[in-house]
Amino acid sequence: MAFTKKTVRDIDVSGKKVLMRVDFNVPLKDGVVTDDTRIRAAIPTITYLKEQGAGIILMSHLGRPKGDGPEPELTLKPAADKLAELTGYDIKFVDDTYGEKAAEACAAVEPGDILVLENVRFLKAEKKNDPEIAKKLASYADIFVLDAFGTAHRAQGSVVGPAAYIPAVAGFLLEKEVDTLTSIFADPARPFVAIVGGSKVSSKIGVLDHLIDSADTLIIGGGMAYTFFLAKGYTVGTSLQEPDWVEAAGKMLEKAEAKGVKILLPIDNVVTDHFGEDAVGEVVDSDRIPDDRMGMDIGPKTEALYAEAIAGAATIFWNGPMGVFEIDQFAHGTKVVAEAVAANEACTSIIGGGDSVAAVNKFDLADKMSWISTGGGASMELVEGKALPGVEALLDA
Ligand code: 3PG
Repeated sequence: MAFTKKTVRDIDVSGKKVLMRVDFNVPLKDGVVTDDTRIRAAIPTITYLKEQGAGIILMSHLGRPKGDGPEPELTLKPAADKLAELTGYDIKFVDDTYGEKAAEACAAVEPGDILVLENVRFLKAEKKNDPEIAKKLASYADIFVLDAFGTAHRAQGSVVGPAAYIPAVAGFLLEKEVDTLTSIFADPARPFVAIVGGSKVSSKIGVLDHLIDSADTLIIGGGMAYTFFLAKGYTVGTSLQEPDWVEAAGKMLEKAEAKGVKILLPIDNVVTDHFGEDAVGEVVDSDRIPDDRMGMDIGPKTEALYAEAIAGAATIFWNGPMGVFEIDQFAHGTKVVAEAVAANEACTSIIGGGDSVAAVNKFDLADKMSWISTGGGASMELVEGKALPGVEALLDA
């Protein structure tokens, strides 16, 4: 599915002031950005606007402040500094978002300048999508650009608001993310193999449901597999399980069967007697999990089965780890899956946010993937087939 909204290419920005919502919600340690992926991802649009002679005003949230005023540990200054370091551009920062100081700094922006405003969530009005906030932000510029894909599922003031007052278009990151994550469902090269892991069926039911509509094979791993085992009548010992979701898991299996979608569930598992760094694993078949054992990872037979399915794929979508990959002795299944995706160089491989991105980075395989989404919740909502409010608010192409 082609992107159906106007982008920065469709509007004349030269000599104009552009207010751009980015997602600089990045991890910080001692005031320093520890993962700059999201900042790097916004640079193509920033550079394009600068080269076109626009004056650029950047805004973002960082973390989840209370909304009662500035919280020094959640200032966007470190992100602004990182942007300066990555681009070599002179980046100005103002420690205000909605007040006189911000308005003055925005008024002083000249073509080619880049100004970063303070964290938009320092006021509750942002999250409430207060129209006064949106009006204020829009008053700073002539054009609004949304490039904050990771926040496009939030109907909040700085995401959807300015579009009501000034022309609003997408940046390159937003366009690419939406295009990539929707086109795999519209017309994927086949076989399309989807891999879904993570702990809970409940949080991914919409994703599983939508994937069954388009994938040829659905590989399931992680804690959610045990709820599927319950649906198949196995016992799962002390493994993570969601009794209230067993029926839904069973319905997913039925739906897949009716549609001819192959579901692969673990055939063996690495189990242990307690959850912890010091836990020792043993391998058991899926229908033989002892009452006092919990599943922590997929087993070697499952690894081979999954790697074979992945090797034959033309399109791969992956979200969620196969086991407790943060603990080294239970990371092997996730590593094998990541390596299998990386080894299938001919396929289009899309990594859909969150923990699977952390896993791909942990195993140093990021550059082997076709696309790694910068969105967590936003990419899941797209994969569920939902419209993103931030995208909806933009001008139609
Ligand atoms: C994210 O990290 O997923 C986005 O930046 C959105 O953040 P939020 O969940 O706090 O709205």
